[in-house]
Amino acid sequence: MKTAHAVAHSNIALCKYWGKRIDAPVELNLPATGSLSLTLDGLWTETEVGPSASDRFVLDDVTHGDDAARKVFAQLDRLWRAAGHQGARPAALVRSTNHLPTAAGLASSASGFAALTLAGMAAFEGDLDRTRLSALARMGSGSAARSLWGGFVRLDRGNRPDGEDCVARPLLGTDHWDVRLVVVQTTAGKKVIGSTAGMERSRTTSPYYGAWVEGSVSDLDRAQAALLARDLPTLGAIVEHSCFKMHACMLASSPPFLYWNGTTVEVMRAAWSARAEGLEGYVTIDAGPHVKVLCTSATAATWAKRLGELPGVVAVQTCAPGPDAHVEVRP
Ligand code: PMV
Repeated sequence: MKTAHAVAHSNIALCKYWGKRIDAPVELNLPATGSLSLTLDGLWTETEVGPSASDRFVLDDVTHGDDAARKVFAQLDRLWRAAGHQGARPAALVRSTNHLPTAAGLASSASGFAALTLAGMAAFEGDLDRTRLSALARMGSGSAARSLWGGFVRLDRGNRPDGEDCVARPLLGTDHWDVRLVVVQTTAGKKVIGSTAGMERSRTTSPYYGAWVEGSVSDLDRAQAALLARDLPTLGAIVEHSCFKMHACMLASSPPFLYWNGTTVEVMRAAWSARAEGLEGYVTIDAGPHVKVLCTSATAATWAKRLGELPGVVAVQTCAPGPDAHVEVRP
């Protein structure tokens, strides 16, 4: 076993993944909806995997022995087998640093599992292409499948029960379009419900779930076309609709759940008011309380200032399209 170091950037879905396929093994973690994302330059995770006397997971200089560690080592077990090895996996030290704002809910699982997958596979000297690595990253966290690449990335849901047609691919590179994502952090609270449990509750109890899954197919194709054409109003409308259909699906679950706080709503409203006044930008929110606004590079500073001044906002960060994930084996 070698020591390998990987860097993967976070991504935010412009068309969301919410829900898992139930016609395939749970282990494959296949999404019920395809998704389209933007990889972000300012938010990333670096992870080193190397030999150790016993398994140890250190995140931001703190050793973890909890559920997070269990998921990390389950992923290493998967990588060990996928690299073609038999028998027991060697013990490993996994040292990870999140270069993300301290608040939770900013897609650290996407960059985290992508970096872990790249570093783990290189440490185990496996020779798999990026599409395979993306599928392995997906088994750790669905959104991580998209963080193997920079720029704009599409993850197709696929239909095959073996999951082989659920693949992520880079659509367009960082230089395609000079857009920005203004990330507005609202006061962090503990996540109301994990994404896997939330998706499951939506699937089993929300009367809107079927409509959500069905509508995602055309959202994805229309978003891709608008992205190719660099048509921000068309893409923005699809981005907002995808986001709010997903949150409506959560709200209509039983019992209902909502990731927003009061500031989330104030930021959303302020963004819509600004747009009505002619400042172009479109809102998206994930399984957390933060608001992200998609806009052009020319308007990003105005957006950041305007939303940053709102009461309850703790930080604002402007992100450009980010690069591919990369890995190196250390001597
Ligand atoms: O990858 P997970 O299990 O953290 O789920 C991601 C879910 C959303 O962030 C809400 C949407 C997405 O496509 O990233």
